[in-house]
Amino acid sequence: MNTILKGIAKAKEVVSVKSKVNVGVIGFGTIGSSVVKLLLERRRFFRERTGIELNLSMVCDKDLKSRRDVNVPKVMLTKDADRVINDPEIDIVIELIGGIHPAKEIIIKSLCAGKHVVTANKYLLAAEGNDIFKQAEENKRQILFEASVAGGVPIVKAIREGMVANSFSSIFGILNGTSNYILSRMSTEGSSFKSVLKEAQSKGYAEKDSSLDIKGLDSAHKLAILSFLAFGKRVSMDDIHVEGIEKISSIDIQYAAELGYVVKLLAIAKRYGRELEVRVHPTLLPSDNLLSSVSGIYNAIFIDADLVGKQVFYGEGAGRLPTASAILSDIMGLAYTICYCNESNKYVAPDRAEIKKIRKMDDVRARYYVHFSAIDKPGVLAQIADLLGRHGISISSVVQKERRADQIIPIVMLTHEAREKDMQDALKKIDKLKTIKRKSVLMRLER
Ligand code: HSE
Repeated sequence: MNTILKGIAKAKEVVSVKSKVNVGVIGFGTIGSSVVKLLLERRRFFRERTGIELNLSMVCDKDLKSRRDVNVPKVMLTKDADRVINDPEIDIVIELIGGIHPAKEIIIKSLCAGKHVVTANKYLLAAEGNDIFKQAEENKRQILFEASVAGGVPIVKAIREGMVANSFSSIFGILNGTSNYILSRMSTEGSSFKSVLKEAQSKGYAEKDSSLDIKGLDSAHKLAILSFLAFGKRVSMDDIHVEGIEKISSIDIQYAAELGYVVKLLAIAKRYGRELEVRVHPTLLPSDNLLSSVSGIYNAIFIDADLVGKQVFYGEGAGRLPTASAILSDIMGLAYTICYCNESNKYVAPDRAEIKKIRKMDDVRARYYVHFSAIDKPGVLAQIADLLGRHGISISSVVQKERRADQIIPIVMLTHEAREKDMQDALKKIDKLKTIKRKSVLMRLER
């Protein structure tokens, strides 16, 4: 054997400290049971891929009575999360109960007890990420969360590892399948928001309580995570301007289509030097933009970075198997770390100093779609144009629809780029005109 090969063989002997990794799962719901099933049924498959024995040690849930499609030996089941956290044999704790409490306490206690942690809990990471990452750093343990954004799409690893050498300029994400499904159905069938939501809930496509989804908050949680990964800035929920899809009408989707645009709920992060802009709202995209063709429950993320240029990631953003796939990928990543280079905490991305300021929504510049509901009288269009002009807003196109029976006519405009504050001030004044009969609808455009 030559000297180099001898060296490698020796290094392997030293570095490989373990060949079995013990996993405890806390949260035995839909995702938890899929992860448990895969850990049990694919044990040999995982061993062949990694050379490591992934051993499911314990499963915890407060409800152990409900039927699941996997059989776990009784001795491995517990209602007491502390039994998992305090078991010295367990290397990795998988938190899949969701919500803030007691998920946060379980993660913090697990890190303090020297466990690595895997979670899919975007709500918790967006709201309490600071405390959790700090704890991971202090304990030199990793917290991995591939499943928290876009389910099975490996966007977290892509940003953190695949594109680590890049400086990012923008991220545009369709990050909520429920909202995307509703907007897609409204667009293809002209149905109302309420009727599509009701049907989606009755068929189980949408949660019974879909408020986090349709109000844009779920997308905002995911955007906070992506912003942190790409820009090194811990963005709080208060930093993100959030609008949901609940006020979108099918008529505006139709007008936008006539103008060549598709309405999508976008999560947007854009960097301007040391300033970062973060927002979630319904957005008009040109119909030939790649993201415009992402329909139904699918997620997609467009990224612009200096070395790789423009990239689009697309796939199932939720569901048992895609989410379980992401969780298993984190477990295997940790297993490599534990078995081949113990105690690394390279995955805890430190807060970086590049971004100094989060841009206020008032200062954001965008192009706008505005739908005015006006009485069809001479001079109405001139009044609107005058008020927009006084606020420095330039109109790029106008469509006035035929008079309808109730005499209120829709006037739909696209503007050139303007400042959000100017647009909002102009709209307030326009909506007070006697000739304007309903609150105007405003959406922003992206290219
Ligand atoms: N409720 C989310 C969605 C899936 O509709 O996309 C979980 O992140």
